[in-house]
Amino acid sequence: MKRIAVLTSGGDAPGMNACLRSVIRCAVYNKLEAYGVLYGYEGLIKGDFVKMNARSVSNILSKGGTILKTARSKSFRTKEGRIKAYKFLRKHKIDGLIVIGGNGSFRGAHELYKEHGINIIGVPGTIDNDVSGTDYTIGASTALNTALGAIDKIRDTVTSMERIYIIEVMGRKEPFIAIRVGLAGGAEDVLFPFTEYNIDDMCDDIKKGRAKGKVSWIIVVSEGVAKAPEVADIIGRNTGYEVRSVVLGYIQRGGSPDAFDRILASRMGAASVEALIKGETDKMVGIESHQVRFISMERAFETDDKKLKLERELYKLTRVLAI
Ligand code: F6P
Repeated sequence: MKRIAVLTSGGDAPGMNACLRSVIRCAVYNKLEAYGVLYGYEGLIKGDFVKMNARSVSNILSKGGTILKTARSKSFRTKEGRIKAYKFLRKHKIDGLIVIGGNGSFRGAHELYKEHGINIIGVPGTIDNDVSGTDYTIGASTALNTALGAIDKIRDTVTSMERIYIIEVMGRKEPFIAIRVGLAGGAEDVLFPFTEYNIDDMCDDIKKGRAKGKVSWIIVVSEGVAKAPEVADIIGRNTGYEVRSVVLGYIQRGGSPDAFDRILASRMGAASVEALIKGETDKMVGIESHQVRFISMERAFETDDKKLKLERELYKLTRVLAI
């Protein structure tokens, strides 16, 4: 292992820069040459490589987004695209590639490995926390805190105006942000993927709550299950109460990574370099119960029943505490 390359792929997440800094500096520490690839797999296909050193990653630890830029590459999903990527990796004499991204990016990495035998290590970076084999992905904690900050502010108007607010959060098909922010933000209810609970049940609960003297509600909706304005419309018509909706959107992806994400990113970045040096490939760095693990890339895109079970328990607690 003499020369490595690193890229960020898919949706950006706070902490990707902290991870990049760790990868580059650990590579330099271990006397490896390091390259950054711009625009994720798109850059790999076009040969967009930049030589990096310890100073190239100065002052990025606290920055959101990714200085390497990122993209969702359609071309890389094709065999032809991956052949082009492989040719550029050969041209630059890259012995190992580190991919910082979510499970879509890992599917691409796995294909590249299967077709061309590249040494490749994934590092989970996405706000959705939807990667199996790691308790947390880089960016999930910061996104959660950003959503929480917004909900805390919205609560001021919720209580002052005694209304029902429907707040839509990101997270694709995963319940992580919705359930966690619901619990942390004291939401009355959460609509999330995989629940049997529906809007009619929610309307009944609201009416019962009103009868007992409850005057305001915060209901968190995961983008993967419904659109906040539509839910607000249904609840308003069904209950006759005043309902407002807010879509938090991309603010959840931005901002300076929190301490948790910076530490996670630094540990995972270092572990990815260590994995390449040890000759590991087609693996993802995960941290479970505080321990760094190298798990098969394929496991990263399986559904994690353990994680889902925990989220359901947290949801039950949210409902108990909203009594
Ligand atoms: O994967 C992160 C994420 O922000 C999801 O929560 C969201 O569904 C998706 O990306 C949005 O993707 P795009 O940036 O392509 O609009």
